[in-house]
Amino acid sequence: MSAQPLRLGIAGLGTVGIGVVKIVQRHPALLAARAGRTIEIGAICARDRSRPRDADLSAYAWEDDPVALARRDDVDLVVEVMGGADGPAKAATEAALAAGKDVVTANKAMLAHHGNALAEAAEAAGRVIRFEAAVAGGIPVVKALTEGLAGNEIRRVMGVMNGTCNYILTRMESAGLPYDTVFEEARQLGYLEADPSLDVGGIDAGHKLALLAAIAFGTRVSFDDVRLQGIERISIDDIRRAGDMGFRIKLLGVAQMTGRGLEQRMSPCLVPADSPLGQLQGGTNMVVVEGDSVGQIVLRGAGAGEGPTASAVMADVIEIARGTRLSTFGQPAATLAAVQPAAVAAPAPYYLRMELLDKPGALAKVAAALGEAGISIDRMRQYGHETASAPVLIVTHRTTPDAIEHAIGAFAATGVVQGPPVALRIESV
Ligand code: NAP
Ligand code: HSE
Repeated sequence: MSAQPLRLGIAGLGTVGIGVVKIVQRHPALLAARAGRTIEIGAICARDRSRPRDADLSAYAWEDDPVALARRDDVDLVVEVMGGADGPAKAATEAALAAGKDVVTANKAMLAHHGNALAEAAEAAGRVIRFEAAVAGGIPVVKALTEGLAGNEIRRVMGVMNGTCNYILTRMESAGLPYDTVFEEARQLGYLEADPSLDVGGIDAGHKLALLAAIAFGTRVSFDDVRLQGIERISIDDIRRAGDMGFRIKLLGVAQMTGRGLEQRMSPCLVPADSPLGQLQGGTNMVVVEGDSVGQIVLRGAGAGEGPTASAVMADVIEIARGTRLSTFGQPAATLAAVQPAAVAAPAPYYLRMELLDKPGALAKVAAALGEAGISIDRMRQYGHETASAPVLIVTHRTTPDAIEHAIGAFAATGVVQGPPVALRIESV
């Protein structure tokens, strides 16, 4: 065992930071045995020193400024768990690298926006940045892609990477409640980010997908190329009707390299109700990886929370303590390819829900609009109704998003479709 302890500087003492402190305090012998050296806390930092925290911090040096923490002589490794794409998180990360220190972070927003530059800065300084906790909390998917699956050409990475959205969608289904009611419940339970659009708008999950895509496909992080659509327009009717057809709605991220370029999308999709993704309940995350040699593997677990996220941070800390030095995205930053984004998503079957005037020839007009867009109908169902319009569901054969958009545009001219139709992709899983 090395005589030199590894001394952490923990910037951020919220949910994740306190979780890290607790693991260091609870398991000193276990960590030392696995890391080959003791892991200690050199200094800590948060905004408000007087705030009560759920751990005894009296033994640690305090800094008000995360950049000063990063520069301290008694800190060997900076654990950045403050959050935010820019500001103090980025400043502390850059200061740590410049001061010759490795960084472990849980901050997907910072890496989605600045991951390329930070990876280059780390390599220039001869340091590493690790970020297991940034994607799917406690699920070791970054290590799975970077190490366990390093011998594979990755075909596709997909998954449910935002627990709050999965909670909302599964709670709507199980309790038969509308979106607004469950959104409010999620807020009361403290599940939502301070800016809820990060969750329900698919942005948080899009950040995570962009990071996984970089590792999986050896490309530069390209969050701007992730096609984002949130769950705000999903109604209880969509959930029920999709269920009738044997599907569940998930906020699903998919990244795949196609002949037309890299496809990255985060959007509500239908998946078979009896598939592993369809069965995923509550705030749990699931990531599915498909490699040319390994086939399909499924990783499932807690995507957030004190214990699971701190578990992932500590895995990175131990990796560094052991002397393992991995490039941020699994290969040197200079070798990451520029992203050629796929202009359109690969064809897929689609689910369409619309309100149709219940009068002779209405269905024929919709079928004609679909036919003219080159879309073939696989299944359809009309529901009983007491109003002038009938809820109609159509499942199409494989088609392109452009064709769906074209058909929806043409629906308006039929004069029989009431309000905007809902169109959701059906993902094969
Ligand atoms: P949090 O509970 O809001 O805690 C943030 C901490 O950062 C607080 O202790 C805060 O200080 C401190 N902080 C913020 N600005 C600061 C500044 N300018 N100077 C010094 N300290 C500052 O956040 P969290 O949930 O632990 O999340 C931390 C990071 O982990 C984020 O990047 C988040 O996206 C990521 N993450 C979180 C989870 C999760 O389950 N919570 C899961 C995966 C990833 P005060 O306490 O004094 O206000
Ligand atoms: N807001 C995230 C989620 C947690 O709901 O999954 C942190 O990644």
